[in-house]
Amino acid sequence: MEGAELVREAFRDAFRGEPELISRAPGRVNLIGEHTDYNQGFVLPVAIDRAVWVAIRGRGDGRARVYSANFGQWTEFDVDSPRKDPSVPWADYPKGVVSELVSSGHRLGGFDMAIWGDVPLGAGLSSSAAIEVAVAFGLVSLFGIALDRTDIALLCQRAEHRFVGVHCGIMDQFVASLGRKGRALFLDCRDLNYEYVPLSDDVSVVVCDSGVKRELASSAYNERRAQCEEAVRRLREVLPEIGALRDVPREEFEAYKYLLPETIGRRARHVVYENMRVLSSVKLLRRGDLEGFGRLMYESHRSLKEDYEVSGPELDLLVDLASSVEGTLGARLTGAGFGGCTVNLVERKAVRTFEEFVGREYEARTGIRLEVYVCEASDGARLEEGI
Ligand code: GLA
Repeated sequence: MEGAELVREAFRDAFRGEPELISRAPGRVNLIGEHTDYNQGFVLPVAIDRAVWVAIRGRGDGRARVYSANFGQWTEFDVDSPRKDPSVPWADYPKGVVSELVSSGHRLGGFDMAIWGDVPLGAGLSSSAAIEVAVAFGLVSLFGIALDRTDIALLCQRAEHRFVGVHCGIMDQFVASLGRKGRALFLDCRDLNYEYVPLSDDVSVVVCDSGVKRELASSAYNERRAQCEEAVRRLREVLPEIGALRDVPREEFEAYKYLLPETIGRRARHVVYENMRVLSSVKLLRRGDLEGFGRLMYESHRSLKEDYEVSGPELDLLVDLASSVEGTLGARLTGAGFGGCTVNLVERKAVRTFEEFVGREYEARTGIRLEVYVCEASDGARLEEGI
């Protein structure tokens, strides 16, 4: 059954009657440009064909009742004062969005809402951004609030910062809002200008879920972010005009890296070179040079492993295994790291062999069953038709 139908049924069971609208926002996989977004740099994600659906109906009393069909749990709150409740952690996302809408001065009525999704949870495919954007898109449509897709992405990022407490960049919410079928989204995270880059039909974007979830991932993430800020502070002694690592060209980084303590220097090196890799990737993809792009994916992984230190044995193993399959052009960890998924660029004709070989070897060596998703690049948030 389609996601829209599943969420409609969940809504009927939970609230009786029909929703007024159903919105949908996708998960994402990032092709290249990792940990660059909060350094005001470049990213190249794809919205995938796994998504979160939200069914909503307004109510007159200023209360919000939200049901998660994935968790089989409820939460209820006043739209004017949502509060965190550790017994329903998933509810932080819809509550965070409501809280941001209200604090930005928008008038919200009460509502009943059911949520269902097939983005794997906690796997690094941005199920949280998908929830946020689907909820925001649905509420904005229901209450006639004038926000465009970029505004919605920014609002959802603020929800994540202020309500959830993760100081994420803009990539996930942006691509969940503005992704495009058959295209990757090349985004400048400073001015939010973007372009769509076509993906060749000869290759598939294959995601491998390592099955590893790290505790403390969000504190390690916030720590990386702080280290990048520290690098900028120190480099400003000689480069006073820089506002972020995005502004540091390779030559200047190489000339002044001696000013940085060892660890901070490696963090900064990753960001400086990763930004260059994104810019080169876009050129290579436009030229149809998939092999060249694949090589940059491997380089990105090495840099995330050695300099940024956000990989782990399982992700490294997945990249190694992938690279030994004929027809794999590139492989790297995707998303924040610390567990989660790898993204692989695989010639279409080799996908089957890839799935069989990597799945078998990974399970043999780790005891973990590998989930593999062959992804289609899809559209960002939308309202479902025909409701
Ligand atoms: C998480 C964050 C993004 C981005 C990536 C790393 O997915 O939500 O903003 O920083 O990690 O590239």
